[in-house]
Amino acid sequence: MLSTNQYIHLPILEEKNIILALKREDLLHPFISGNKYRKLKYNLIAAKEQGNHTLLTFGGAYSNHIAAVAYAGKEGRMNTIGIIRGEELHDNWQGNPTLEQAYKDGMQFKFISRQTYKEKDSTEFLEELKQEFGDFYLVPEGGTNALAVKGCEEILTEQDAEFDVICTCVGTGGTVAGLINSSRKNQQVLGFSALKGDFLNKIVAEITTKENWRLMTDYHFGGYAKTSLELIQFINQFKADTGIPLDPIYTGKMLFGLFDMIKNDNFARGSKILVVHTGGLQGIEGMNTVLKKKNLPLLDI
Ligand SMILES: Cc1ncc(COP(=O)(O)O)c(C=O)c1O
Repeated sequence: MLSTNQYIHLPILEEKNIILALKREDLLHPFISGNKYRKLKYNLIAAKEQGNHTLLTFGGAYSNHIAAVAYAGKEGRMNTIGIIRGEELHDNWQGNPTLEQAYKDGMQFKFISRQTYKEKDSTEFLEELKQEFGDFYLVPEGGTNALAVKGCEEILTEQDAEFDVICTCVGTGGTVAGLINSSRKNQQVLGFSALKGDFLNKIVAEITTKENWRLMTDYHFGGYAKTSLELIQFINQFKADTGIPLDPIYTGKMLFGLFDMIKNDNFARGSKILVVHTGGLQGIEGMNTVLKKKNLPLLDI
């Protein structure tokens, strides 16, 4: 499946002589948006080939991945089980738009403590889940595994060879790994980390063999799902200027970071930059409920 590249025209790009396009992966599918579609594609095929009718996965309260797996299960007539971080949500998840939609799409939840969540990949815990739910096809947190990387290798096409720089956001590393694998030698892949710290460098290095990439680790705004007035204003302004919505957890931070780098002359004049819009727009509604409580302005929908 192909998505279109949308060219962006803004005064700063003209001033710095930068050509910028957004690959609209967010428009691939109304619910399984952006990289989720790519990451699930071969996993769904594998589950079916193994004769497995239940998908089990992990995620946080506003997870795009949880939303995508629930919908993919509904579409593919498979059962879905979401192991959700935060046992406090057990009696308290109604009103959370992501979980409400996932529930409507047929997902069954199990809420676990943050401590147990850290051990979610252990053999003991997975064995306990098998005892409780029976056999399942395991989709890891964020959907990242070798089949997900294979799916993300299909994001770039022949026509993208003209770009010097390819940008994406990074959570678990699968998307950027796929892009690195299918990029050309002369292209540089920049990953904007949505998480604090630089541990993702090691993870990405382990799942790719090339070296034409770099992670930007200074645009996390305090950590995963943390936000600020400056970020909200940037996202709303970007939408007003271009008509393109960005999510506050991944794509908003990436574009904020990229424009900061452009302003600071990090790219040679004449550079052609392609940004992969990885979707995540379902998370805006959930973030707005958080912003409202903090008396911050809301994200335009
Ligand atoms: C919208 C969006 N963009 C980017 C990412 C990061 O992708 P990855 O986990 O493959 O690094 C995610 C999370 O998986 C996401 O939901």
